[in-house]
Amino acid sequence: MTNPRGNGLRSVADQSEQERGGPGSILSRQSRDHAELDELMRSYDRATGPAERGRVVAEVGERALRHAFAEETVLFPAYRRFLAGDDDELTRHIEGDHQTVNEALERLQGADPADAGYDEVVRHAFEVIRHDAHDEEDDLLPRLQQAVGVEELRSIGAAWEVQRRLSPTRPHPRVPREPPGNVLAGIPLAVSDRVKDAFDAGGARRGVAVAVVAVAAAGALVVLARAVRRAGRGGAGPRA
Ligand SMILES: [Fe+2]
Ligand SMILES: [Fe+2]
Repeated sequence: MTNPRGNGLRSVADQSEQERGGPGSILSRQSRDHAELDELMRSYDRATGPAERGRVVAEVGERALRHAFAEETVLFPAYRRFLAGDDDELTRHIEGDHQTVNEALERLQGADPADAGYDEVVRHAFEVIRHDAHDEEDDLLPRLQQAVGVEELRSIGAAWEVQRRLSPTRPHPRVPREPPGNVLAGIPLAVSDRVKDAFDAGGARRGVAVAVVAVAAAGALVVLARAVRRAGRGGAGPRA
């Protein structure tokens, strides 16, 4: 199929998992997560009332934010190092979209799904998330694939997955979208978001959950800091 961007590259959407570098490559991981996010966004239209719409938006939001944080801290820095340099237009454009989504999700966090205007903000955020996935699958990821080998695609994929799991879970539009600011801010925010998540879960297990989350998050952050250091050096560095 012809790439809709007309750039002569094969979109990730038209490649088999083997062509993408196997299940662990950044191309396959991105493609799977984009598809799952898209399915979740579709479930918004099937929701039967405001409460269910609110739950879907919260789930889409957390998933999209984790995905984007891992891109901003691992994938885009790797792309800029291999291909484009620090003033790269494509990654700047996608970071701008991530900022738009962060701002929309922050507005939705405090809003009632039954309110007039809620649906419009949701649909705009979903549209930007979908546009962002196309920018990556049709343009950024095929360019990266041309520039690096399969082992590098897998190494970036593994680092991206670590960051996705340890990312903050709530919108933070005032945090920079690039390293080192997002990495440094991401560490305390990942902890405080998980404590808030545990409180929101409520119930008798809340106190225990908070303690467990705090300890787990502290340990996880050590792993995160190491992973970021690794991604910044060996794994995602240009080949000789
Ligand atoms: Fe993205
Ligand atoms: Fe993505």
